[in-house]
Amino acid sequence: MSDQTQLHIDGQLVRVKAGSSVAAALRVVDGKGAARTSVTGQPRAPFCGMGVCQECRVQIDGRRRLACQTVCAEGMRVETTA
Ligand code: FES
Repeated sequence: MSDQTQLHIDGQLVRVKAGSSVAAALRVVDGKGAARTSVTGQPRAPFCGMGVCQECRVQIDGRRRLACQTVCAEGMRVETTA
């Protein structure tokens, strides 16, 4: 069994350590971990890391989920702009 998981974030192939959260994978992509943008275009990123603040909402395989509460799965598709 591989110790890495591959997923797509906004179309970009990302490899992370198996068991990583989607919030951690977002950090790999841009170094900031931006999950989405506010209505004014400001980047928003995971804040609490425990499912309270809702700042890490992303679209995962077509469903709205919290990046900090979701473990990366092989082939998962994450959209931060949806
Ligand atoms: S970081 Fe706060 S809910 Fe995910």
